[in-house]
Amino acid sequence: SENVVVGIDGPAGSGKSSVARAAARELGFQFLDTGAAYRSLGWLVYDRGADPGIREHVLKTLEQFDYEISLESGSQRVLVNGLDVTAQIRAEHISGAASRVAVVPEVRTRVNEIFRGLIQSAEPGIVVEGRDITTVVAPDADVRILLTARPEIRAERRASDVGEDADAIAKRIRDRDDRDMGNSDFMEPADGVHLVDSSDLSFNQTVQAVVNLVHGRT
Ligand code: C5P
Repeated sequence: SENVVVGIDGPAGSGKSSVARAAARELGFQFLDTGAAYRSLGWLVYDRGADPGIREHVLKTLEQFDYEISLESGSQRVLVNGLDVTAQIRAEHISGAASRVAVVPEVRTRVNEIFRGLIQSAEPGIVVEGRDITTVVAPDADVRILLTARPEIRAERRASDVGEDADAIAKRIRDRDDRDMGNSDFMEPADGVHLVDSSDLSFNQTVQAVVNLVHGRT
């Protein structure tokens, strides 16, 4: 297809979600936050009173998981079984549930099909962010970026977002990174993937670095 696909991976707290959204807006592209699918399934597992750490519970919930997203106007809305859960899935306890359901291969296969369908039909282009976009979901994307930041910087940014202590957050980020690392090594750029370290960049500078890479299309 002729559309431009930009894949951005990175760890928790790297700021990739807000950076990817802002870059998409500047480029006039659509925006897909893939973590929202894992968060939505995690949310549904809890809603059913089930345990995201138990494979059978996750598979049972996956059978009843009707996931719908609308990508218009840069603000992605998320519907689970017809219910808008856009705000609920941002809760801190849902991050842990998301990274637990994400280790189940059947879950990854299912959500990847959804992502690929959306990516194919996104005109004139789309910025997709997650953990395995540059390696698994869209390895042939036009531009692939790994957005990182030093661990202490990621914890500080998260802490100021949610108004919580940076040390407690640093520990949860480390736990989530460890779990997520089992699915794909998103800390090391794969061949042909551009590394952008945002540690010493402002938000706008980081967005600009992404936009420049897309304009360069190297
Ligand atoms: O990016 P976000 O924090 O919303 O992702 C929530 C969780 O979903 C991650 O910690 C990870 O476990 C999972 N995820 C994933 N693959 C992706 C996106 C998110 O495994 N492409």
